[in-house]
Amino acid sequence: MPASPLIKVMTDAARKAGRSLVRDFGEVEQLQVSIKGPANFVSAADHRAEEILFQELNRVRPGYGFLMEERGVVEGSDKTHRWIVDPLDGTTNFLHGIPVFCISIGLERDGQMIAGLVYNPVSDELYTAEKGKGAFMSDRRMNDRRLRVAARKTIGDAVVATGIPHRGRPGHPKFLDELGTVMKSVAGIRRTGSAALDLAWTAAGRFDAYWERNLGAWDMAAGIVLVREAGGLVTDLEGGTDMIGTGNIIAANSTMQKELLPLIRARVT
Ligand code: IPD
Ligand code: CA
Ligand code: CA
Repeated sequence: MPASPLIKVMTDAARKAGRSLVRDFGEVEQLQVSIKGPANFVSAADHRAEEILFQELNRVRPGYGFLMEERGVVEGSDKTHRWIVDPLDGTTNFLHGIPVFCISIGLERDGQMIAGLVYNPVSDELYTAEKGKGAFMSDRRMNDRRLRVAARKTIGDAVVATGIPHRGRPGHPKFLDELGTVMKSVAGIRRTGSAALDLAWTAAGRFDAYWERNLGAWDMAAGIVLVREAGGLVTDLEGGTDMIGTGNIIAANSTMQKELLPLIRARVT
């Protein structure tokens, strides 16, 4: 399916910022690294990529507001639209030379997520979705394919992704408790280090499910649209739809979500 004008402008901005990230990734040793919080780095590359995304998206859609991880809230004259952007998701991977990171761009209209893009500039895998129009992945050979969440229904066969709270983040005992329960019931657990890619890979059916707590809106915004448009179910950990407000998320096909959510909820004290 040819990209819509909206997906095209999002893709152009992401590819431009992606070129900047790839250049910096090649010189990761020389990057000036500052510490944003315990075990949580923010780099010059991150800021450069964010600046490019801000300029490009502002140029093509003047007036839209922004919520960006580094810059925070930028009010727009158009109060109905807001970009939710993580210029570099997978910062720890990036700084360790692990090529698993991405740019994440979500678009919200009247409080609803209507479009999402997740782009890994190293693998050149581009995931895009627009509400009601499906989710797609294009790879470096420019093969476009429609995404579907995994069809697997048996939790014992599932490969499930999650995020492990960093040093200095809350929720370590709770996470270990949940992990202890889930790992006994599934085929395997994975931790990529990028929430946005976890959601994109769930949309692509690579992961059967994904859950994580304490995320920012920018980690999830694009991925929520991807998973939904790939036929998956995305909820918070109460089974509601306030992922952005609670920071908690579970994504899977609906059968798997119904199996997995009680296991995680049972651990909530
Ligand atoms: C992080 C990644 C990671 C998740 C963390 C996020 P960052 O984002 O998405 O997978 O577990 O909670 O903060 O810091 O690399 O943009
Ligand atoms: Ca992030
Ligand atoms: Ca980030």
